[in-house]
Amino acid sequence: MQTHDHSTPSWHPALEVRYAPLVEKLERLIPCMEVPLHLPWIDAILELKRRRGAVIMAHSYQSPEIFHGVADVTGDSLALAQAAADCDSDLIVLCGVHFMAESAKILAPDKTVLIPDLEAGCSLASSITAADVRALRVQHPGAPVVSYVNTSAEVKAESDACCTSANAAQVVNAVAAEFGVDKVIFLPDRYLGVWVAQQTGIELVLWDGACEVHEKFTALEARHTRERFGARIVAHPECAPEVLAEADFVGSTSAMGQWLAKQKPTRVAMITECSMADNLRNQFPQVEFIKPCNLCPHMKRITLPNIHACLRDLRHEVTVPNDVAISARRALQRMLAVGRSELV
Ligand code: 13P
Ligand code: SF4
Repeated sequence: MQTHDHSTPSWHPALEVRYAPLVEKLERLIPCMEVPLHLPWIDAILELKRRRGAVIMAHSYQSPEIFHGVADVTGDSLALAQAAADCDSDLIVLCGVHFMAESAKILAPDKTVLIPDLEAGCSLASSITAADVRALRVQHPGAPVVSYVNTSAEVKAESDACCTSANAAQVVNAVAAEFGVDKVIFLPDRYLGVWVAQQTGIELVLWDGACEVHEKFTALEARHTRERFGARIVAHPECAPEVLAEADFVGSTSAMGQWLAKQKPTRVAMITECSMADNLRNQFPQVEFIKPCNLCPHMKRITLPNIHACLRDLRHEVTVPNDVAISARRALQRMLAVGRSELV
């Protein structure tokens, strides 16, 4: 295929042979009739990726045909931020939402970072602006700001440190100790904030943001799933406190995988985005997954055809103004340093 060939790649029997192990894996994770529809796109993307020397990074909420079919690096938002910082390719395609691509660009400023759909946003990131953060600082003088990575580059630039759900409590503890305070501004997810306050015992000033996917889950649903199906309940801390109270384990997407590896439950319900269960199902064939049906509409904007167009036309480049990137990088690096057990 030529670089600017806009034709749709088509299926042929040789693809089934060339990708036999992938076909076997995907047939267990998605309706088997869909696999032949994806294979031509996967083949064309892998060829373009090779020619471009690109690295494809995919979040755990990406659909299985992306996660297993074309990604070089997969993981939660922390793992992707770390991979971008350590990446040695000049071209990164971020299959996730916009704030993740911005984090990659901030941590790898000399790389070209592309996102297949610029509209892949996040209800948390859009809930707060840089001006809101400045106003919070005026209302709470001396309190440092920890912002969840699910924020814009401008909000990160106004923050003292970033965190993900995998390290939020650690970062809040480290920042409170570094600044010598017992009150921290934590934004924008109010539910994650309540959970972190419980873990740390530190007073947190919260913002009224929420994830539009996780806030849909109810305590009744979680209880019903346990009682009706005898399932262990694993929930993401972006869920409401009454849902978390029903859970056997609360943790980030990476922590959920670690918990499954240790606990090896017979049956588990994943109270998080739908694709997470699909992507873990492959890793834990002995576990029966009860899959919720809440999809993130932003994550699902990323598709094989738009990844292909992204690599073919080198679109859509994610850029961050230099002054914003410098301050945002400081906040992200403080987070990464906490993970490496040292403060910058
Ligand atoms: P993780 O930080 O666990 O990857 O979650 C990101 C996210 O968007 C959750 O909804
Ligand atoms: Fe944002 Fe929620 Fe989608 Fe994660 S699942 S990207 S927090 S809207």
